[in-house]
Amino acid sequence: MSDQTEQRIAFITGASRGIGASIAKAVAAQGRHVVLVARNADKLDEVKQSISDAGGSAQSLACDIGDQAALEGAIESVAKEHKRLDILINNAGITRDNLLLRMTDEEFDEVIAVNLRSVFVACRAALRPMMRGKWGRIVNLGSVSGLVGNPGQANYAASKAAVVGFTKTIAKEMAAKNVTANVVAPGFIETDMTDVLPESVKQLAKDHTPLKRMGQPHEIAAAVAFLTSEDAGYVTGQVLTVDGGMTTV
Ligand code: NAI
Repeated sequence: MSDQTEQRIAFITGASRGIGASIAKAVAAQGRHVVLVARNADKLDEVKQSISDAGGSAQSLACDIGDQAALEGAIESVAKEHKRLDILINNAGITRDNLLLRMTDEEFDEVIAVNLRSVFVACRAALRPMMRGKWGRIVNLGSVSGLVGNPGQANYAASKAAVVGFTKTIAKEMAAKNVTANVVAPGFIETDMTDVLPESVKQLAKDHTPLKRMGQPHEIAAAVAFLTSEDAGYVTGQVLTVDGGMTTV
């Protein structure tokens, strides 16, 4: 149980659609004020409106997380405006799939910049306000690709595997400051990211999933919301895989 009196502030990247929008709704439903971050201001405003309609508290902030100065500036401005920053959810991510023999430098670098470097930049910027508040929750989105690999995703798998080691290190460095850091690793989830895949690939994924279906964004959001809750204070440095059993051996 919490003795918290002031509303906690959550900064959520990639909140304009898919898993990020679901996470924002779930975290807002827990009574947090959510800061919705993505590039498309109009889409963010739609998510903000639906959170407000449900009685939640939200603001939108358009920002390209691949732009280091913009991302740092966004986090600093939120911490200044609210005089706190309690929760950081690094959800935004991209794929640029190609078999390794054909993968270009640009495809590799772009994925690393958005999926890994931005996570480093955001976490570093968020730690100071979390330390000042003597409380923090960081959740970074991984992927089953980063745990077991996936053909065509060497860049993506590398970025998501790196996020695991990075997050476990934050968990150890920040434990004494009452800041937890965990990864949620989704399997195949129905969003725009997977919508582009051929039907045959989707069917193969379902066949390899014990639950025989793709996951829904709200099923990832529930795991993330738990890890940001007051009750999750003794969970840190973990990877919570939400994949319908796909990686069960
Ligand atoms: P999506 O493509 O539907 O949404 C991605 C979000 O990130 C969007 O809001 C987009 O605007 C934002 N974004 C991308 N690049 C950005 C940038 N440079 N600056 C600001 N915002 C940016 O993706 P989805 O499926 O919702 O994925 C969310 C997270 O979950 C990602 O980290 C993804 O890698 C991870 N994931 C998704 C899986 C799936 O099956 N959908 C499986 C495993 C992991």
